Amino acid sequence: MRHNRDQLSSASHLHPDHSCSHPQACLHLTVLHAAILWTEISAALLMEQKVVLITGCSSGIGLSLAVHLASDPSKAYKVYATMRNLDKKQRLMESVRGLHKDTMAILQMDITDQQSILNAQSNITEGRVDILVCNAGVGLMGPLEAQSDETMRRILDVNLLGTIHTIQTFLPDMKRRKDGRILVTGSMGGLQGLPFNEVYCASKFAIEGACESLAILLQNFNIHVSMIECGPVNTDFLKNLMKTEPTDESVEVDADTRSLYKKYLQHCQEIFQNAAQDTEEIVQVFLEVIQSPCPLFRYYTNTALLPLSSLKLMALDGSQYIRAMGKFIFSAEHADSRK
Ligand SMILES: NC(=O)c1ccc[n+]([C@@H]2O[C@H](COP(=O)([O-])OP(=O)(O)OC[C@H]3O[C@@H](n4cnc5c(N)ncnc54)[C@H](OP(=O)(O)O)[C@@H]3O)[C@@H](O)[C@H]2O)c1
Repeated sequence: MRHNRDQLSSASHLHPDHSCSHPQACLHLTVLHAAILWTEISAALLMEQKVVLITGCSSGIGLSLAVHLASDPSKAYKVYATMRNLDKKQRLMESVRGLHKDTMAILQMDITDQQSILNAQSNITEGRVDILVCNAGVGLMGPLEAQSDETMRRILDVNLLGTIHTIQTFLPDMKRRKDGRILVTGSMGGLQGLPFNEVYCASKFAIEGACESLAILLQNFNIHVSMIECGPVNTDFLKNLMKTEPTDESVEVDADTRSLYKKYLQHCQEIFQNAAQDTEEIVQVFLEVIQSPCPLFRYYTNTALLPLSSLKLMALDGSQYIRAMGKFIFSAEHADSRK
């Protein structure tokens, strides 16, 4: 590169503006050198493209992040946007409006199916992933007594084991190269308990433990693990989550629990209406992590939610947090109940 820049600058004193006896030939030479320089700059940029693999790109946070990175004007990223069901790829395709040809590829990947993870890995033409974003996840809401074994396993299979299997697959190569970033979409529900979300919170708490443990080890391999802790976000999450309907009479739950569940659902609806963030705000936090020379372990997308969480640290016996959260959810006057 330096060599060609030198060549170009030495050509510049042959430019027609300088005293030259063959202005036409000199102009051709200059254009030629400029073209060579531009090709080399483009090649260098492409060589430095960071390879990013994101799980759960059919909607929500994963989709927005994939679109944002693939649309980077300097083409700094090659994005492998993965989803378990390719029939859902249209939304992502429409969001990038054909601008993604050399910066995005869509791959099938179900994080609960090891063969599907391996197939996706073998389709990465660069043969490496620099930045792994474990984002896929599902919610589960309802009284604990109402949850079947099958439903609970499904949540743990995706949110916990699926995320761990994804990391397990891509980690050995990152370790070998002593380079990598692992970003995980976490949740405030992974830091603090939420009633009627017991199994979802269990899965998100568990992934916190797994990632914090990994982060300690991976410092030795120049691999950074970061949790992006989200509060409510406007996505398909509520639509996609598995939820017990409070009116479902086939569910055997006592009347008090049923009434508290209704209150919780009202609270949840209000929180999403009043405090949910748009995916673009979440994407900005992901970008901060991706672009940081030395990313931290935890990032919070919504600092308004931190005071309740910090009660856990103020009273390590847990009493303050449990009391405060109970009041916040069950004692508040909800708009619907005032009607
Ligand atoms: N939205 C919120 O309020 C919120 C708050 C805190 C944390 N989060 C976390 O944010 C992450 C993204 O959720 P979101 O809000 O963007 O919701 P979303 O729109 O429902 O997106 C979830 C994505 O995960 C995918 N997924 C589910 N099971 C999968 C599997 N087995 N293999 C591969 N992909 C799978 C879904 O694919 P399908 O379309 O095929 O189902 C979808 O693409 C989740 O980990 C969630 O726990 C969300």
